[in-house]
Amino acid sequence: MKILIINGPNLNILGKRDKTTYGEKTLSEIDLLLKKQGEKLNVEIVSFQSNSEGTLVDFIQQQSSSADGIVINPGALTHYGFSLRDALADCGLPIIEVHLSNIYAREEWRAKSVIAPVAKGQISGLGWRGYIIALQTLVAELKGESI
Ligand code: DQA
Repeated sequence: MKILIINGPNLNILGKRDKTTYGEKTLSEIDLLLKKQGEKLNVEIVSFQSNSEGTLVDFIQQQSSSADGIVINPGALTHYGFSLRDALADCGLPIIEVHLSNIYAREEWRAKSVIAPVAKGQISGLGWRGYIIALQTLVAELKGESI
C-alpha cells in the first residue's frame, strides 16, 4: 500500500514560520515521523511539498495511479485552489485534509476550504499529530478495519 503525503505553499518553512500557530517541528521532522508510522503500518510513504499549485497538480496526476490514498495539507491553497481541488477529485483516491492550526478559529477567510468537499474528512488544529492521525485513519479504512 502506498500513501502520498502532500504539503502546499509555505509548509517547507515550518519550524521557522509563526511557531505559536504552526508548532516547532520542521516539515522534515514531520515527514520522518510519518515514515516511521508508515513502517509500523507496513505502508510506503511518499512525501512531496511544493509552493506552486501547478507542480502539486502534476505530482497528483503522475503519482495517483500507483497510490492508494492521500494525506494533504494544501496550505493557503485550501481556501482558493480550484485546480488543486479538481486534481484531487479527478484522481479518485481517498483524501484526508490536514491543517496544523484550527482554520475555524482564525481569520474569516480561512474558515472556507474548497478542498473539504472532495476529501473524506478533515483534521484541523491538532498540530503535527493531525498528520499521524490522518495516516492511521486512512490506512485503517483502506485495510477495511472496523471503526
Ligand atoms: C494551514 C492553514 C492555512 O490557512 C495556511 O495558509 C497554511 C497552513 C495549516 O496547516 O494550519 O499555510 O494549512
